[in-house]
Amino acid sequence: MTAPGETITGVTDPYYPAQAVVDLAAIRSNIARLVDTAAGAAVMAVVKADGYGHGLVPSARAALAGGATWLGVAQPAEALALRAAGVDARLLTWLTAPDAPLADLVAAGVDVSVASLPVLDAVVRAAGERGRPARVHLEVETGLGRNGMSYDELPWALARIAAQVREGALELEGLWSHLACADDPAHPSVRAQRDAFDEAVRLAERAGCPPRLRHLANSAATLTEPRLHYDLVRPGLAVFGLSPVPAIASAAELGLRPAMRLEARLATVKTLPAGHGVSYGHAYATAQRTKVGIVPLGYADGVPRHASGGDAGPGGPVRVGEGARARTLRIAGRVCMDQVVVDLGPDALEQAGDTVVLFGDGHDGGPTAQDWADAAGTISYEITTRLGSRVPRRYLGEDA
Ligand SMILES: Cc1ncc(COP(=O)(O)O)c(C=O)c1O
Repeated sequence: MTAPGETITGVTDPYYPAQAVVDLAAIRSNIARLVDTAAGAAVMAVVKADGYGHGLVPSARAALAGGATWLGVAQPAEALALRAAGVDARLLTWLTAPDAPLADLVAAGVDVSVASLPVLDAVVRAAGERGRPARVHLEVETGLGRNGMSYDELPWALARIAAQVREGALELEGLWSHLACADDPAHPSVRAQRDAFDEAVRLAERAGCPPRLRHLANSAATLTEPRLHYDLVRPGLAVFGLSPVPAIASAAELGLRPAMRLEARLATVKTLPAGHGVSYGHAYATAQRTKVGIVPLGYADGVPRHASGGDAGPGGPVRVGEGARARTLRIAGRVCMDQVVVDLGPDALEQAGDTVVLFGDGHDGGPTAQDWADAAGTISYEITTRLGSRVPRRYLGEDA
C-alpha cells in the first residue's frame, strides 16, 4: 500500500517481499551540506546510473530542491530521459561519442562534453543542424588516463573552439577534468592533476576562449580539498549519503545521511539439524541445531555474490528483529540469484514475514551499504548502483 507522499516504482506488486526505501529528504539534506562545503562554487548533482540506483528522476528533483543548480549524467540517453520527464535544470552529459544524438541534445538545451576531435566536429555539425549554439564543456586529460582531450590535441581543439565561438556555433561553457585518486587526498597525482588542469585553463585563455566554468571535483575532492572546488563541483556518491573516503571518514562524520534502505520480509523460517550444509556448494554448515531464515533477495537484485558467507569468510550483514531484540547477523552460505540464508540461531523468535534490513543509514547500529562493500571487497558505489530493477523503490519525503 502507498501512503500519502509515497511513490512506488519498479515491480508494483504490493506483495513483493523486498523494497528499497529512498529518503528524498536525506538527498536534500546531503545537497545542502555539499552546497555549504563548496562555499561559492555551484553544485552539479551527479545522478547517472539511475541516480546511483536511487532512481534518476526522483533523485534529480530532490537534488535540485536541496540547492543543486546543475545535474550531471554520463550517458546522453540519461540526459534526454531527464528532459522527457520535464526536468529543465542545467544539465551536462559527458560520455559523448561522435554518433551520440548530439542534435537532440543541443535541441534539448543539454550541455555536451567534448573529449576528442571527432566529437568536437560532430557537435559543430549538430549545432549547425539545429541552428543554435551548442554549449560545450571541454574535458582535458590531466592524468586519469581515461576520457579527455590529450595535451597534444589541445591547441588545435582550442583554436577550433575559439573559431566556432566567434561564429556563434559553440559556447565554451566549461573546461573540466576528473581525478584519479581523489579518495586519497595526499596522493601526489591529485596535485599533479590540479597543476595540469590550471595549465589547460591558461591555454584556453590564451587561445581567446576562457571557459565560464572550471570543474574538477567529485564527492571526495569536494569534501576534502577546497582548492579543487573551482567554479563548480560534481559530487555523486555524497549526494546519496555515502562516504567517498571510507578509509578517512564515515558518512556520519562527513555530515551525510545514506538515502537508501534495502529491506525484505523473511520468506521462511525453519529448523536445520547440526552439521547441515546451507545453500549452493555447502560453503557454510550449521554448527548446531538452528533456525534459518530465507531472505528473498539475491544477486539478481544486486546482493553481491562476493559477500557470501562460509569457508571464505563471514558473509554480508543483515539486521533482524525489532527494537531491543534487534541484532546484526551474517549471510550464511552462498548468495543465490533470488535469495540468501541467515542463520538465526536456535532460540530465534523471528517468523516468516518479519522485516530484515540489509543496509540503511546505520543510525541504529545496523549495517550500511559501506558494510556490504567491505564484505564484498568492493566500494559502496557498486552496492547501490547494482540494485536490481525488479526491486521496487519506495520514495519518502517527496512533499518537500
Ligand atoms: C566525470 C565524473 N564526475 C563526477 C562523478 C561523481 O563522482 P563521485 O560519485 O565520486 O562523487 C563521476 C562519477 O564517477 C564522474 O564520472
